[in-house]
Amino acid sequence: MYPFWEGVLIHSTLYVAITSAFHVLVSHLTVAAAWFNLYIERRAVRENREELYQYLKRSALGLLVFAYVFGALAGVGIWQTTTAANPRGISALIHNFVFFWGAEWYMFLIDVVGIMAYYYTFGRVSKQTHLRLAWILALGSTGTLSIIVGILSFKLTPGLWLQTGNTLHGFFNPTFWPQIALRFYFMFAIMAAWALFVATSLPKGFFEREKIIRYAGGIGLLGLIGGVLVWLTMYEPALPEHARAILPSRAIPQPTFPIIYFGLAATFAGLLFAFIAPNRQRRVFALAAMAVMYGAIFGAERTREVLRKPDVIAGYISSNQLLFNDVPARGVQSEENRLSQTGMLGHLPFVPDVDQVAVDPSVTFGNVDQTVAVGRVLVIQQCGSCHSISPQTELNILGVALDLRSQAKLLRMRNLSTVDEIDAYLGAIHGFPYMHPFIGTPQERRALAEYLAAFVNNGAATSVAQAGR
Ligand code: HEC
Repeated sequence: MYPFWEGVLIHSTLYVAITSAFHVLVSHLTVAAAWFNLYIERRAVRENREELYQYLKRSALGLLVFAYVFGALAGVGIWQTTTAANPRGISALIHNFVFFWGAEWYMFLIDVVGIMAYYYTFGRVSKQTHLRLAWILALGSTGTLSIIVGILSFKLTPGLWLQTGNTLHGFFNPTFWPQIALRFYFMFAIMAAWALFVATSLPKGFFEREKIIRYAGGIGLLGLIGGVLVWLTMYEPALPEHARAILPSRAIPQPTFPIIYFGLAATFAGLLFAFIAPNRQRRVFALAAMAVMYGAIFGAERTREVLRKPDVIAGYISSNQLLFNDVPARGVQSEENRLSQTGMLGHLPFVPDVDQVAVDPSVTFGNVDQTVAVGRVLVIQQCGSCHSISPQTELNILGVALDLRSQAKLLRMRNLSTVDEIDAYLGAIHGFPYMHPFIGTPQERRALAEYLAAFVNNGAATSVAQAGR
């Protein structure tokens, strides 16, 4: 149901998470690699070390093929998945930042043309000119990173924008600089795994191989330590009160923190090993490091996104795509006030009126009751962005359920299964820092409870049946 897509097999937001974690890995890698390659190339020029170009060429070709093709495709994937999962959220961002995204696109054009020029001009232009290309790449890629960080950090801390509606206030918001610093440091740890991967492909006897691995390991370690320090001294202190309440709450699914800590520790150990024993490095180590970092990035980026729950843009638009605050400077009025009086059904584009809701027993657990069908429409609109709200997004792999906070499970956990119990509970969900109150009339809330009761009891019936087998 537009403007909300549940997902197929897994929840729509997990498509976003999977695609973007990969994109984050690769895009940070390209920025850091541009700086590292610049550093290596400066040494090559100054100290006249021809051999270093061997590494640079391999690195550049790898970046061109792997990072700029797959990484850029994943970037397009983010547009696709976020638009499918939360069109109004993306729309709100575009309405504020269209020129910033335009500028980012030009920066990215410089990167893409830059990496091609960089790779194909090795040995064809003077060393000084080539070094200039390295500078352009490093600065251009840092430009793309900085612009996107402005938009990402805006979602968590829109800052003065809420009063002024001024896009620059939104861009240079309270967590902008901390997040830039955080990414700028951590990206060198990712880059180190890449450098290890490229350098280990050089012939074993190649006499600069070990040096490059040692440089990369050292720089990666500094990045990792710097990143942790930035988190502790800049980023965490800049987090708003609300985000601090979310951080230790159940909104962050387990085992996110153990995965992040393990990722940090394993990366630290791996880089230290590369730094101390560069002659004992192998390609599989680099691949393992990338896999570990993918897991850690997945956890970390997801946590960053969850910190602003229950909103897409904190204090402005909720995850279920409703505007809940006035922003007079932009002529925007809260929808929640209006909708709590009129009710949801028939009062938002794409949310049908009661008599237009079709009864389809295949999605209401065999129920032919119209109220349950209405409840389904409402649950999709109000709860679906953060919860698995039907078996459609509860994928079972070898007994492990890949659902997203399945409502059937949560309600069962609280022993709530009748319509009355669920209805009463719905009246209190805003007590949790990660949920807004239910919006709509009492009848609508009742309908939602009817659907949820059907969902809970249906799921319970299956598990009893399974247990009996
Ligand atoms: C902005 C995201 C978001 C939306 C929208 C949302 N929830 Fe939640 N909800 C959460 C999070 C996060 C949790 C914590 C998950 C956990 O406890 O494992 C949660 C937990 C719950 C729980 C368990 C609470 C408990 O007792 O611990 C229930 C029940 C629930 N949600 C129902 C709903 C219903 C019904 C709706 C729609 C009216 C809804 N939620 C909308 C994010 C959301």
